[in-house]
Amino acid sequence: MNFTPYNRPVRAAFVGLGRIYDLNVRGYIDNPDVEVVALVDPSEERRTQRQADWPDAQTFETVADLAASGLEVDAVEALLPIPLHVDGVIELLGLGWHVNLQKPMCNDIASAQRMLDAAQANDRVLRVMENYLFYGPLRKLKATVESGEIGHVSGYHMKMVASGGGGWDVPASSYEWQFKQMQRGRGILVFDDGWHKLATALWLFGPIKEVRAWVGGTEVVPGIAIDAPTTIIWEHENGVRGVWDITLAVDMYLRSDYYTNDERWEVTGRKGYARVNRCTGRGIQQPSLEVYADGEMRGFHALDDDWASSFRDSGRHWLRWLHTGDGPLMWSGDDAVNVLRFALAAYASSDAGGIGIDPATVS
Ligand SMILES: NC(=O)c1ccc[n+]([C@@H]2O[C@H](COP(=O)([O-])OP(=O)(O)OC[C@H]3O[C@@H](n4cnc5c(N)ncnc54)[C@H](O)[C@@H]3O)[C@@H](O)[C@H]2O)c1
Repeated sequence: MNFTPYNRPVRAAFVGLGRIYDLNVRGYIDNPDVEVVALVDPSEERRTQRQADWPDAQTFETVADLAASGLEVDAVEALLPIPLHVDGVIELLGLGWHVNLQKPMCNDIASAQRMLDAAQANDRVLRVMENYLFYGPLRKLKATVESGEIGHVSGYHMKMVASGGGGWDVPASSYEWQFKQMQRGRGILVFDDGWHKLATALWLFGPIKEVRAWVGGTEVVPGIAIDAPTTIIWEHENGVRGVWDITLAVDMYLRSDYYTNDERWEVTGRKGYARVNRCTGRGIQQPSLEVYADGEMRGFHALDDDWASSFRDSGRHWLRWLHTGDGPLMWSGDDAVNVLRFALAAYASSDAGGIGIDPATVS
């Protein structure tokens, strides 16, 4: 690909102005690297609401209307419902625009390949943003582990509790496409939110050689099952093992400014451990990162542990990257395919009774 960095503000369009726009927009606000020129969403209510943020931007009902307008666009922030990712991204790349896509990239390898092929054919960049890689406490966790402070890594554990009460409102229309995803076997905990946890595993410890999983289900309303309890274990190529348990606490209230998700990451080394106590929600009211070594516990009280800041920093990284073309995209399309393979290996393992599956073999 022949990427030419921009030496002027990037002209950007938001495509999809729903719930997650509220956080993705943070990378664009007060950012001299970008000029927001267009807002696209079939919902008039959303267009009117978001126009207040960008009074100079033009609004459109569809991407086709934007393309037909002749307005110059360099890059798109694609915040579409998951079932629209594949065709939507191929359309955007085909119009000659770079794309920063929300996760999960798509549901299967063949679709992912179509998206990568479209990027290559149009000589455009496809990024699949991963805001967790920009969450301050997780970045500090990674730096702590790499510093050797807790010794050689023995293993690690991730925990996620989805709770039924608390957090911000999610529009009913979002649940409609989430249910479609569930019907296709791509549940909201393992595949949608879980995508982030799988991404952090790859980011922390590299490629994975074997995955074993037991994906469960809990019916929350007649005919609708949430994909918990679920347990997934894996081994990285470097020999480090990880385990992730997902549970559902339907009646639990969890204080959160965003989704109600109680999350933890705990890495154990030969002489200590480091643990991130929370992320999306405000579960454990301890410092967001604690590090134990040599008989002493250190708490990090001054990290920026607002989950929204990870969206701001991911967005800024992308918009800066477009001015340099240097360094990792966090994530590239190929990185995202590795996350997809990890998830598909977990499903394949669970379907086969929990046997070990090499993510490289899933199709
Ligand atoms: N990174 C994260 O932590 C995180 C969190 C939540 C959602 N997401 C992802 O963000 C994406 C959007 O999720 P959301 O929660 O904002 O959904 P949402 O349902 O709230 O919003 C989607 C918006 O897209 C609009 N839309 C539908 N069809 C369109 C089209 N053809 N062109 C333009 N706009 C169209 C809808 O009208 C709606 O306003 C999904 O991929 C989801 O997985 C990521």
